[in-house]
Amino acid sequence: MTEPILQVKDLSVYYNKKKALNSVSLDFMPNEITALIGPSGSGKSTLLKAINRMGDLNPEVTTTGTVIYNSHNIYGPRTDTVELRKEIGMVFQQPNPFPMTIYENVVYGLRINGVKDKNILDEAVERSLIGASIWDEVKDRLHDSAIGLSGGQQQRVCVARVLATSPKIILLDEPTSALDPISAGKIEETLYGLKDKYTMLLVTRSMQQASRISERTGFFLGGDLIEFNETKKMFLSPEHQETEDYITGKFG
Ligand SMILES: Nc1ncnc2c1ncn2[C@@H]1O[C@H](COP(=O)(O)OP(=O)(O)OP(=O)(O)O)[C@@H](O)[C@H]1O
Ligand SMILES: [Mg+2]
Repeated sequence: MTEPILQVKDLSVYYNKKKALNSVSLDFMPNEITALIGPSGSGKSTLLKAINRMGDLNPEVTTTGTVIYNSHNIYGPRTDTVELRKEIGMVFQQPNPFPMTIYENVVYGLRINGVKDKNILDEAVERSLIGASIWDEVKDRLHDSAIGLSGGQQQRVCVARVLATSPKIILLDEPTSALDPISAGKIEETLYGLKDKYTMLLVTRSMQQASRISERTGFFLGGDLIEFNETKKMFLSPEHQETEDYITGKFG
């Protein structure tokens, strides 16, 4: 039996008094893509952010419950959030390269962690850009600004920036929804190709995307996890009426 790499147990998140995630429990399996779907405001981004403690930055956020990673609760007192975010990286909906060169974008996390050796940085840049399927497009312009790239290229540089710190888990919050279909397709293929090395949690609005690349899917509604199942099972024969209504486009 494969053990889960990440276990979310009874996780609730409040923004001030308002509950945005309602005692959610689910396990994530290694080297799988788990898709998180549900209508706007259902708590998908809130869950992703809770998993690398982004809420710490917002005094209005209260989190209860546990997230077990490497056999300990990331909400326990011993967690170093810089370390945590190295192991659990995040890619956002809007490509957000920093206003610096492609090279510096990719090595950003390594520099924060004090890496100075040029050989190590060069190797990380090549490895990460290859992993993000953009090496060939940018290898001759590594010292140009990342802002000059297309949106789809910028997003792949953002994926490379996460890969550079050698994470175990990658959180992806609608990484393709701001992109044209061709760029979106490239990201999707890239993610698919990363499965043998990483575990991914993918928030997506696209049922097609979820069914093409994910092993398991969780359906959220109003902060509740309504259904969590193998993706094939969920799309062929959902167990809950709400799931069926959502995936057949009756609401959302
Ligand atoms: N920073 C915040 N402050 C206050 N309320 C928030 C904040 N972020 C989210 N919420 C609320 O929490 C609930 C869940 O929001 P969340 O962003 O997790 O939804 P989502 O499923 O990601 O939606 P979408 O598909 O639109 O991205 C919503 O009611 C939202 O208004
Ligand atoms: Mg969201």
